[in-house]
Amino acid sequence: MNLIKVENYEEMSRAAADLFLAQVKEKPASVLGLATGSSPVGLYKLLAGANADFSQAKSVNLDEYCGLSADNPQSYRYFMTENLFKHININQANTHVPDGMAANPDAEAERYEELIEKLGGIDLQLLGMGHNGHIGFNEPDEEFAAATHRVYLAEQTIKANSRFFASPEEVPTSAITMGIKTIMQARKIVVIASGSEKTNILKKALYGTITPRVPASVLQLHQNLTVITDCFE
Ligand code: F6R
Repeated sequence: MNLIKVENYEEMSRAAADLFLAQVKEKPASVLGLATGSSPVGLYKLLAGANADFSQAKSVNLDEYCGLSADNPQSYRYFMTENLFKHININQANTHVPDGMAANPDAEAERYEELIEKLGGIDLQLLGMGHNGHIGFNEPDEEFAAATHRVYLAEQTIKANSRFFASPEEVPTSAITMGIKTIMQARKIVVIASGSEKTNILKKALYGTITPRVPASVLQLHQNLTVITDCFE
């Protein structure tokens, strides 16, 4: 593991942006695995302002809520458009997020998994760290979920995400997420985590027992993992 300790959120975002910019410079047609949430906002701002060439790049997002359409401000597709896609020269047709409105979420999950395969796999996958150690929407469980699948969200995740909604009742209760195997097949993974409230879970994930009770702990087994964080002294 390559652990990059930084002082604050801005430094974390800068270091992550450097990795993404180097990736598309080295391989313009890279498949970039992207995440939503608070952690990547600074990174996306930097990418948006970098004037870099994303014209050949493709993107696949980790997850999407079931029941939210692309024009719903709480959907992850909307988040990606607003925070990144509309600010860079990526071909919008090459940006992929699971379809939260799919009539059959299981079939959509299968399609998404096949799509990633067809694209040749993910070159660089970005991950945030959930408070319970989730990655994507892979919540603590008895076993590691393999492929992209529909998932029912943990109470803690619904609570954490309710800050973006008018009330916890409005948070969708299920989502489509890349599976652990999907994520682990990415050629490179970068985790970004900022803030003292992430310190304990990050320590557990990186140095604790590898267990599906802490989904992110599986990352210890990845061959090319970079962690950028201000959580450690
Ligand atoms: C987002 C995602 C989640 C978040 C995690 C951390 O697409 O898959 O796993 O990365 O919940 O969220 P923040 O960055 O808001 O703390």
